[in-house]
Amino acid sequence: MTTFSDRLKEAMYAQNLKQIDLVHIAAENNVKLGKSHVSQYVSGKTVPRNDILHFLADTLHVDADWLLGDSQENFTARENNSVAPKAPSTTKTSGSVGTSNSSKRGTTPMKKTITDKNDNDNAGSSAMHIFKKSSKLDNVLYDVRGPVVEEAARMEERGTHVLKLNIGNPAPFGFRTPDEVIYDMSQQLSDCEGYSPSQGLFSARKAIMQYSQIKKLPNVTISDIYTGNGVSELINLCMSALLDNGDEILIPSPDYPLWTACATLAGGKAVHYICDEQSDWYPDIEDMRRKITDRTKALVIINPNNPTGALYPKEVLQKIVDLAREHHLIIFSDEIYDRLVMDGKEHISIASLAPDLFCVTFSGLSKSHMIAGFRIGWMVLSGNKAIAKDYIEGIKMLSNMRLCSNVPAQSVVQTALWGNQSVNDYLVPGGRIYEQREYIYKALTDIPGITAVKPQAAFYMFPKIDVKKFNIVNDEKFALDLLQDKKILIVQGSGFNWKQPDHFRVVYLPRIEVLKEAVGKISDFLSYYRQG
Ligand SMILES: Cc1ncc(COP(=O)(O)O)c(C=O)c1O
Repeated sequence: MTTFSDRLKEAMYAQNLKQIDLVHIAAENNVKLGKSHVSQYVSGKTVPRNDILHFLADTLHVDADWLLGDSQENFTARENNSVAPKAPSTTKTSGSVGTSNSSKRGTTPMKKTITDKNDNDNAGSSAMHIFKKSSKLDNVLYDVRGPVVEEAARMEERGTHVLKLNIGNPAPFGFRTPDEVIYDMSQQLSDCEGYSPSQGLFSARKAIMQYSQIKKLPNVTISDIYTGNGVSELINLCMSALLDNGDEILIPSPDYPLWTACATLAGGKAVHYICDEQSDWYPDIEDMRRKITDRTKALVIINPNNPTGALYPKEVLQKIVDLAREHHLIIFSDEIYDRLVMDGKEHISIASLAPDLFCVTFSGLSKSHMIAGFRIGWMVLSGNKAIAKDYIEGIKMLSNMRLCSNVPAQSVVQTALWGNQSVNDYLVPGGRIYEQREYIYKALTDIPGITAVKPQAAFYMFPKIDVKKFNIVNDEKFALDLLQDKKILIVQGSGFNWKQPDHFRVVYLPRIEVLKEAVGKISDFLSYYRQG
């Protein structure tokens, strides 16, 4: 049976419209349609009243009966001109969504007959098949590049300058890759034309192995090291190789959402444990313990943390190790920011405390060497590898299947890991990251209604908004309103699997002058903003 929800999703997909776009188009046409209504229609919880049904059908260029799912027949979409949705305004900021999408709508060949790919009897030459995404993606969230970012892109397409405090990409903010890294890559480029061994070049893995020794990772040989096209690829690989449908994995909340997304995509169940703002955002060990079941296979920590900027001390790490030991869990530790630590603090790899457990430690050059675009990361298997023999075979298989990681980028791992670490200069008083952190922390927490824990590492802060004061119930709307009013892009807390609408993440990579401008605008926005 094809439900209204199925048809709605299909038609939205065909028109390249998101839920929020429908809400905007409705508002411009004085149709009362809230985000929660659309969400309920999409999730199949309710169907709309007649007038809303017809509004949706018109907007989506489909027949209302078809949309309702009453008709199982293929539908002939109406021509754009005959039942065009009322044109959204091009002047108001909120009109932008509709404007941009209406041009996209024009590119959809709606005169053709549209069929479901599953309707085999309509494979005639005039039929256009709709390809739907896999249902495996239904619960996958990756809002760091989600709907608010898409709206920012649409604004930019129209020539609006958007100040981006949303993504941890150092290069566009003037953080230069060390010259030596660029020089060494150019010297080796012609030797990097072919595939490397699947796990990576010997020289790169040797350098990573030595780095692992410095970080006191136990029982690591060169064959325990895998390079990847960024840590991202390896997170995906590790989750795919480990999780059977329904297997559980403990992931922090807030998290770097790729972890949750990859675990979910692999068929696993991401179970979120709380990182506690009252305790400097350290993991709440009792919450972790409560959430362990007999399906729990592993736990993930992100240390230093994105989005909170927390750095975990040895006592906290030790408690996590004890818990993992007690419940026979694998530890995955994402340490991509391990070199970006301030205030004279030292980063400790959790694997160094767990020689009897199986640990996988992730790091790379995207952040510490400002070469996120070169795509180079790695993971190190350590500790008790005997208990993970079969899992390691799975990892090897998937590693072989993707052939190898970017070879030119592998060629600079040795250069990057050893010798002068230019990033250190950014992290001390007078250095850019340090001073920008000092500025953003003070300036944002000076705004009435905003509080924050001062970050100690990485280049993110996760401030809290007084939701009562601003009447905020939906943090995505907050981010969108800020974007549309002030042209500032932040990521709402829910983008990091944070369940309350009371946080957002700022990236403090821009220079202080730019941060000043941003904070001034945020402050002004919050002086009048009330949601609802
Ligand atoms: C915690 C964390 N892990 C992994 C990644 C991905 O890094 P890479 O560029 O190596 O794929 C990021 C990127 O922002 C991150 O914040």
